[in-house]
Amino acid sequence: MKRIFSGVQPTGNLHLGNYLGAIRNFVRLQDDYDCIFCVVDMHAITVWQDPVELQRNTREVTAAYLAAGIDPKRNIVFNQSQAPQHAELAWIFNCVARLGWLNRMTQFKEKAGKHRENASVGLYVYPNLMAADILAYRATHVPVGEDQKQHLELTRDIAQKFNHDFGVDYFPIVEPLIQGEATRIMSLRDGSKKMSKSDPSDMSRITMSDDAEAVAQKIRRAKTDPDALPGPEVLDDRGRVAAAAEAARPEAFNLLRIYAALADKSLAETLTEFEGSQFSHFKTVLTDLAVATLGPVGAEMKRLMADPGQVDAVLAEGAARARAIAEPILAEVQDIVGFLRPKP
Ligand code: TYM
Repeated sequence: MKRIFSGVQPTGNLHLGNYLGAIRNFVRLQDDYDCIFCVVDMHAITVWQDPVELQRNTREVTAAYLAAGIDPKRNIVFNQSQAPQHAELAWIFNCVARLGWLNRMTQFKEKAGKHRENASVGLYVYPNLMAADILAYRATHVPVGEDQKQHLELTRDIAQKFNHDFGVDYFPIVEPLIQGEATRIMSLRDGSKKMSKSDPSDMSRITMSDDAEAVAQKIRRAKTDPDALPGPEVLDDRGRVAAAAEAARPEAFNLLRIYAALADKSLAETLTEFEGSQFSHFKTVLTDLAVATLGPVGAEMKRLMADPGQVDAVLAEGAARARAIAEPILAEVQDIVGFLRPKP
């Protein structure tokens, strides 16, 4: 059986990268897979979260899932902390993963920055909890943006080592699904930096709850360069932007990719459409498209946020269904590891 698991951290400022790189893909996958979509509140607290904000942000990610079109009846939507199997399996994986593997994780290095000694231990073992999220359901496919690739390689390594150490063929080796033109959306202010929830500049990102005016202002002020837009000749024979062209105009290609993803077109089609255009014209068209696409999602999120009871009920129901899948899997893992437990 093909099963999908993916998650988003409730750390505020949900942005266009989260939407185009992940959430919108979740919506499209729900027809073909058995899907579990999680709000990973336990990952969020690896860096400080105000408790009241954490609750609000957990509801906000849930509202974004629902508003984007994820059907909570057909899929499972829940918050991580309501299924204790994640933490239990993560402990076992803490004992499978090697220090050397975690030392290579670029996301830890970026997040811990210069003050490594001050980072939480949770931040260090973050990828082990992520492996537990996925493997507690023996999920086979994980839709994510490009930045999660290394974490998923670690998930594969953990599954492989567990299977090998215990001489079993228990955990699947997961496949990342990194799809579309928006797998790595960059900051609107600096094309060399990823669009992120934690960038101090609000102008660096379009959020899922920005109104039309905010979207227009952010796109108008997005960094560009003085040249007209390039055409499809910048693509190599695999349809990728040649490295030199990309390095020379990162902001231009970022905006073109955002357009392509919003319009559901390929980058090649988008380059053909706007070849020779000035940014002023392109930005107007991009703004209209962004407002038309995000507007209804933002409005529905707002409506759901005004009804926290409805959102909490979705999470509670999803969590019960999640636990029902994870519980017997964890029991089997405990048997494999050799933990004694009462037999039914
Ligand atoms: P998080 O909360 O940082 O991001 C959620 C999803 O959004 C994608 N994303 C982007 N895509 C394109 N461009 C960007 N600028 C951009 N920024 C973020 C991320 O790749 C992600 O798919 N570790 C995960 C959460 C997680 C998880 C999991 C994911 C925990 N357990 C199990 C999959 C499976 C994270 O920090 O996502």
